[in-house]
Amino acid sequence: MKGKTILLVDDEKKVLFLLSDALEEQGFTVRSTTHASEALKILQEDTIDAVVLDLVMPGIDGVDTLQAIKEMIPNLPVIMLSGHGTIEKAVKTLKLGAHDFLEKPVSSDKIGITLRNAITQSMLEKEKSHLLETVREEYRMIGSSDAMKEIYRLIEKIAATDSPVLITGENGTGKELIARALHFKSQRGAKPFVPLNCAAIPENLLESELFGHEKGAFTDAVSEKAGLFEEAHTGTLFLDEISETSLRLQPKLLRALETMEIQRVGGTSRKKVDVRIISATNKDLNQAIREKTFREDLFYRIAVLTIDVPPLRERKEDIPELVEHFTTTFCRERKMPAITFHPRTMELVMQYPWPGNIRQLKNLVEKVVVLSDEKEILPETIQPHLPANGLVLNRNSHQQIPEETLEEARKRVEKEKLLAKLHAMNWDYKTVAKELNISRATLFNKMKAYGISGKRKR
Ligand SMILES: Nc1ncnc2c1ncn2[C@@H]1O[C@H](COP(=O)(O)OP(=O)(O)OP(=O)(O)O)[C@@H](O)[C@H]1O
Ligand SMILES: [Mg+2]
Repeated sequence: MKGKTILLVDDEKKVLFLLSDALEEQGFTVRSTTHASEALKILQEDTIDAVVLDLVMPGIDGVDTLQAIKEMIPNLPVIMLSGHGTIEKAVKTLKLGAHDFLEKPVSSDKIGITLRNAITQSMLEKEKSHLLETVREEYRMIGSSDAMKEIYRLIEKIAATDSPVLITGENGTGKELIARALHFKSQRGAKPFVPLNCAAIPENLLESELFGHEKGAFTDAVSEKAGLFEEAHTGTLFLDEISETSLRLQPKLLRALETMEIQRVGGTSRKKVDVRIISATNKDLNQAIREKTFREDLFYRIAVLTIDVPPLRERKEDIPELVEHFTTTFCRERKMPAITFHPRTMELVMQYPWPGNIRQLKNLVEKVVVLSDEKEILPETIQPHLPANGLVLNRNSHQQIPEETLEEARKRVEKEKLLAKLHAMNWDYKTVAKELNISRATLFNKMKAYGISGKRKR
């Protein structure tokens, strides 16, 4: 294997000599030593991709060395060489984290193959954990308002259970993100997360999408197909926009949730599944129940636990943090130099009611990052992208932003200004107080009154 360095540890010089030659011929770079302590030193100083370690050595023997290596670099593959009569001991090393063991005498070809497999496997594992990190980053939740803190608390508490969860909130408030966080933090985290937008599938197809179908169940069913319940087996099924399911489907869904058994369309037998259900809606389900478009019994089944996500306009203190997060992410993705929002721009953004919530804010930031050549975004740049201010309707929730009194408006504006300044000045209280022409004590009093807290970023 080109470019891969291995370390041989054996007390017999002759063995080291022969093996080194043979493995170098196979393309490995080889380091070798007869002493365990020397081996640990090499591992500390150099990059080693795999170790071949003799089991029986005078002084510190192979088992102790293996343990020391695993403590130092847990994921480094170690292949044990065992002599005659030590097989039992060698088997035990597998429990201690050895990748494999080979019985002496062993051909260098066999060692080469084992090394290549071990290194490939360890590279794949590294790649996988890197991918997981990327996924985690993509689904990271931003915001430190009290409302968001309460949501984080709920996520931690609820994740461990298997109870159904209903997440409610306007469009773009982060319902799906919360559903994913619940899944990732649960014991099902490494199992599938299967999302289904109930509003996006024609009603006649939804049943077979959920439960699957047998061959010939309907005209287009040319072959059998597993449904999403089966796909989500041992994992989580996310039923988004659950209010959009039809009254015909709802009893079938209820039965599946109650029994955790499903029947494919056109099938005769029922199949057990193990699925955690998370649902979401931006509609008021209680109203839907009153209007008889949603079954009450299904509601109680899916809403054992609930998380209500407040709209962004009710947690404006999250806006600067979100803006910063989205600008940094977009600039990094596009390999562009970092941009910032001018304090006046931040003020404008904080005054806007964000009917489309975080999604709308995220889209705006992306647009600005792509279209603007400025390093610091001025209010004029974003103004055209903010559709008519004031009373804006949320597409689905039919909620109007309540009119505020003059006093409320004054307080709101003052709070927004204060927050924008604090963020712009990176929470440097001295400078902020000076800029606002107030004493530091007054600043702290105001922050307390408005429930503002934050930390300086380095
Ligand atoms: N707290 C947050 N931190 C960072 N990004 C967020 C946060 N909340 C939402 N987002 C982002 O905003 C966008 C909308 O979020 P999401 O799709 O979860 O909302 P939703 O409530 O499911 O919306 P809809 O009702 O329209 O389906 C996504 O790109 C998501 O990553
Ligand atoms: Mg959604």
